[in-house]
Amino acid sequence: MSNYYTTPIYYVNGEAHIGHAYTTFITDMLARYSRLKGEETYFLTGTDEHGQKIEESAAKAGKPTQAFADEISATFKNLWDEFEISYNQFIRTTDAEHKVGVQHAFKKMFDKGDIYKGEYEGNYCVSCETFFPESQLIDGEFCPDCGRTTNTVKEESYFFKLSEYEQKLLDYYEANPDFILPKSRRNEVINFVKGGLHDLSVTRTSFTWGVPLPASMNDDKHVMYVWLDALLNYITALGYGRDDAKMELWPAQMHLVGKDILRFHAIYWPAFLMSLDLPLPKHIAAHGWWTRDGEKMSKSKGNVVSPKEVSDLYGVENLRYFMMREVPFGQDGDFSQRAFIDRINSDLSNDLGNLLNRIIGMSGKYSDFVIDSVDVEKYHSAELEEMYATLDVVERHLDEVQTHRFLEELWRVFTVGNKAIEAHAPWVKMKEGKTDEALATVALVANVLAKASLLLHPFMPKTTNIIADTLGFEINTASYNALLKEKKLLDTFTIKKIGPLFPRVDEPLMEEAPKAMMEPEPKAEKKAKESKKAAPSKEDAAGLITFDEFFNTTLKIGTVVEAEEVPKSKKLLKLQVDLGEDELRQIVAGIKDYYSAEELVGTQVCVVANLKPAKLMGILSAGMLLAAKDEDGLCLVRPEKPRQVGSTIG
Ligand code: MSP
Repeated sequence: MSNYYTTPIYYVNGEAHIGHAYTTFITDMLARYSRLKGEETYFLTGTDEHGQKIEESAAKAGKPTQAFADEISATFKNLWDEFEISYNQFIRTTDAEHKVGVQHAFKKMFDKGDIYKGEYEGNYCVSCETFFPESQLIDGEFCPDCGRTTNTVKEESYFFKLSEYEQKLLDYYEANPDFILPKSRRNEVINFVKGGLHDLSVTRTSFTWGVPLPASMNDDKHVMYVWLDALLNYITALGYGRDDAKMELWPAQMHLVGKDILRFHAIYWPAFLMSLDLPLPKHIAAHGWWTRDGEKMSKSKGNVVSPKEVSDLYGVENLRYFMMREVPFGQDGDFSQRAFIDRINSDLSNDLGNLLNRIIGMSGKYSDFVIDSVDVEKYHSAELEEMYATLDVVERHLDEVQTHRFLEELWRVFTVGNKAIEAHAPWVKMKEGKTDEALATVALVANVLAKASLLLHPFMPKTTNIIADTLGFEINTASYNALLKEKKLLDTFTIKKIGPLFPRVDEPLMEEAPKAMMEPEPKAEKKAKESKKAAPSKEDAAGLITFDEFFNTTLKIGTVVEAEEVPKSKKLLKLQVDLGEDELRQIVAGIKDYYSAEELVGTQVCVVANLKPAKLMGILSAGMLLAAKDEDGLCLVRPEKPRQVGSTIG
């Protein structure tokens, strides 16, 4: 079985933005997942370089069209290379081989009687490279898709008999209910087809930047319609019309597209393929549209998110994770740095990164970094069962590209590990002399991390390779089969000591979108804030304090990064706390009777952050932890749910 995945080919009229990166990330993830399972996989991407739009963009840039296309095509290819996108082939529609395949297909459709010569009179939108009948135009003039002005065109044209495929297409959708994904988009396509299909103009004479008709047709006035040329890339890449060796990869497993180009892929493309007597792709999967901070991205607004800029600042794998986790496949998504940072800090740094750091720390202390799964089943059969309850079923979400569901459920596996540490408190077991039990918990967590990392690999290939290396194994089909399908546990290994995989991010790293887009602070709210500041304290006498007096104390959420006992002290622990500042805060706290140093690491605390530094047993302490004490002892006050470090309390 072979799995052939494709991205759309990107127009070379501008540089890649976050929407392009999203399609590419998803396709890359699917290809990597398919390879991980050991299936033969082929992944195609590339650039769409013909048509009036490109010709006009090149003219505007004052460059010859081919040179302009070369330049922009290279920016896409370089970006995907920098992002380590695992494509097998990068096709360009200006490649000579592609042109041969397109001409071959055209001739075949013509000879079959599916293409005929006629005259076209209609309205053309250059930006969408699409004709629209008068009835569909807005105010008789504007493009129904992008709102731009259309041009009236009257010219000789060849037509494809799309109308003849109406019923065949409807029958196909009926017989293949999962042809269009997500299924919610299916009706949209069916209704469009039921509304009646007009024959499609597939050549143009008003410009020359396109594939000419086959020489044997003796009609050099025409070039091919860019969408016919572009869609055929999916088979010309496999040698269609030249050398069919790679055509055995056809039909594609899945074409990934944005919702705006679903119609071309789910209606025109299947009709062309039927005409060519070729099987249809198994799935067309359409994703939604990305906005930035709730606004449509556009060059004129200056709010286009550059994937290169984001990845330089936040890391490409964090971006991949965010985009595939944040948005249900098929729905529109919003790119906001706040949401992105929350995902990095909470899912990646807290849930995953800390888990790994905790077992590195514990195994270093308890077993000289050696981790052995020998007692995991004995002490943790319940946790293993809980973990497999997720691992056994989670992959089904990828069949329908439900990336957010997949990741959401996969995270339950990390929760099993985090919960096990809290519940079994290996540091207590060590004190009680139950070394086997303590080591079994550490080994359980190592296995949790190994198994979950295998499934996370297609989403975050480099990061998961580092995790696997730390855990003494390699991610490949053999380990996928052994650890996930045969449910084997890790062999004994020595864990490697590594630094934090996901450094926390506290402030947006990228310049925000232009200010004009931000909502001004409503006046009423501003006034209320000002009056709060000025409010006098009437209740001084009663010992009550004002709002402002309370806020003289700065209370913040912090994460304990390191903890150790203060030598010769019975009560004190020395902590390094991350408060989202440039440096960690050193805080000395008298809590040793109630907490061990190990169990504090990775947990969150509430800190009085503006306390004058003082020395305790000669050690500087720059802050205080909030705690509550009664006759049962002392407990720390902590946020109910993990919060961003440095969040103010109040
Ligand atoms: N050249 C055609 C595709 C031909 S495929 C045979 C094309 N190119 S494009 O560069 O304009 O768009 C490529 C892809 O990027 C489309 O799938 C489109 O949906 C996607 N996106 C463009 N802007 C987007 C967002 N703002 N958000 C998400 N995806 C978007 O169409």
